[in-house]
Amino acid sequence: MTKAERDPLVIFTPSGKRGRFPVGTPVLTAARQIGVDLDSVCGGRGICSKCQVSPAYGAFPKHGVTVAADALSPVNAVEERYDRIRGLAPGRRLGCQALIQGDLVVDVPPESQVHRQVVRKRAEARAITLDPATRLHYVEVAEPDMHEPSGDLQRLERALAEQWGLEGVKGDLRTLQMLQPALRAGAWKVTCAVHRDGPEPRILHVWPGFYEGGIYGLAIDIGSTTIAGHLCDLQTGEVLASTGMMNPQIRFGEDLMSRVSYAMLNQGGARELTGAVRAALNDLAGQAATDAGIARELIFEAVIVGNPIMHHLVLGIDPTELGMAPFALATADALNLWAEEIELRLHPDARIYVLPCIAGHVGADAAAVALSEAPDRSEELMLVVDVGTNAEILLGNRERLLACSSPTGPAFEGAQISSGQRAAPGAIERVEIDPVSKEPRFRIIGVEAWSDEPDFPPDARVTGICGSGIIEAIAEMRTAGILDASGLIGSPEQTATSRCVPQGRTHAYRLHDDILVTQGDVRAIQLGKSALYAGARLLMDQLGTDTVDRIVLAGAFGAHISPRHAMILGMIPDCDLARVSSAGNAAGTGARIALLNVAARREVEALVGRIHKVETAIEPRFQEHFVAANAIPHATAPFPHLDPLPAVSFNAEQGRRRRGRVADRSPDATDAPA
Ligand code: FES
Repeated sequence: MTKAERDPLVIFTPSGKRGRFPVGTPVLTAARQIGVDLDSVCGGRGICSKCQVSPAYGAFPKHGVTVAADALSPVNAVEERYDRIRGLAPGRRLGCQALIQGDLVVDVPPESQVHRQVVRKRAEARAITLDPATRLHYVEVAEPDMHEPSGDLQRLERALAEQWGLEGVKGDLRTLQMLQPALRAGAWKVTCAVHRDGPEPRILHVWPGFYEGGIYGLAIDIGSTTIAGHLCDLQTGEVLASTGMMNPQIRFGEDLMSRVSYAMLNQGGARELTGAVRAALNDLAGQAATDAGIARELIFEAVIVGNPIMHHLVLGIDPTELGMAPFALATADALNLWAEEIELRLHPDARIYVLPCIAGHVGADAAAVALSEAPDRSEELMLVVDVGTNAEILLGNRERLLACSSPTGPAFEGAQISSGQRAAPGAIERVEIDPVSKEPRFRIIGVEAWSDEPDFPPDARVTGICGSGIIEAIAEMRTAGILDASGLIGSPEQTATSRCVPQGRTHAYRLHDDILVTQGDVRAIQLGKSALYAGARLLMDQLGTDTVDRIVLAGAFGAHISPRHAMILGMIPDCDLARVSSAGNAAGTGARIALLNVAARREVEALVGRIHKVETAIEPRFQEHFVAANAIPHATAPFPHLDPLPAVSFNAEQGRRRRGRVADRSPDATDAPA
């Protein structure tokens, strides 16, 4: 047996990696040699405590080893000191201090893994492996030597290469301005924040000695209505604060096209829109930092996603070209920028990563949704719909992925609805209608009880109806026989309820006091849902399929839609309801993935290149699908997963006139993207 064969055998769990190492090898060194994921910021100097491990003792027949009590060197002074000051959990050792003495089984707990998994709430969603672009590195830098003149920065760069394998690291003028005092204050020991997503790694900050504080990143999703931000700890992946705010560009127009028009028609309009969204991002960053109790200057990175128009506006690019065919993007590529280039006040050297856009109508937000929901990794055929003023739709599986956008209009957000409002306290969000009595019950945002329950406060203010409420109301009207398949509301006589009240030549259903669902409301929802369905159907045509295996509803609104009601309306194709799920703000999650995992950026860049883009505006079949989808749920497509809906028909003549008007107002006849 050679000496190497007699060396102690070390088995790391949970990875199962194993190797033989000479007596006296630090556990951290052993881990590094065989590629075990064990963290370290101080480079094994016993300062950072990131390298904690849990040795196990006794017999391990599974591994074929018995671990003796003295398989590791005794706890040394560094570990004792750390334990005294900070406390080391029972049984834990510092991997850089504990030396291998005999056969060993050693566990690397999740918090000591460099590439640990970040917890996601939804089990079906892809896991996030922590590997951010910005990391901390503690280094000991050679002191200046009169006989070997060299700059402090060059010696720091050399130290980073030698001690961390970071080749070609560059510092800029700001690094130089902080470097000399930091090196001297830290007695030639410093901690650097190094960003490594670009042609060369960049030093973003230098602290004297060992820096014990945190570094943070912000994932931002700029929607046309709201802007959401997640402030994350880049060392743990934890979300420390989630902040949302209205997009102040709303004052220039509710929907995207009116903002593009504002930019087109007003001198300096695009600049104003850019200024508004940038100011909002600065407020958002400040708010998130305050909520998390950190200084905004410790935010070293931000990842931004948004639809193409938001994408262009935040970058200071005039979006005019996106307002007309052929909807040319200034760039579809991902971007790496300095925060100051877009006037974002974070750390002065903070970096920004902007996800790639898919097409002129399908933006970086849809790319982020694809990253989060990973239809490209799915065996099953997945339909992912990000519902908003403009729906972005992805369909595919690991073989092929298609994308399009569809101009659904603002009705799903409660706009253009007679009693519509944004989702806010007092808004009706859930509706049920008894099919026999035709009496409604509802729930409002901010009150748990249903309106017919004793706990419902008699003085509750019912202020209007939000997007999910109107969808449920119309779907329930359809199942209760108050609405026919063409979308016509029946008269009191036809429906046998006095809740149907005449309104000019049509009727409305009285939901509560003066909150009515009018014929116009039904029409607005029909337009939106037909556009959504037609977009999805167009992609299904391209793939040659009539069914999908799974549907994911993304977006803040998607989170509140009841899948059953969406299907009764025919917003989405037929599917087993158990296979329809909500992904919440998947675009924001995609931004967070790109923030926490640098490899995910390359992944989404490659994925976007593979996505086949379908342009709804020039596809003749879109119009056909749109017209057929006006019926509730659909004129021809079967919905076998739905219970049969009442076969009522209220007024064929009136219905024909109305349908004609709906068809006239199809998206092809109006604006392109919203
Ligand atoms: Fe930093 Fe062990 S590597 S304490």
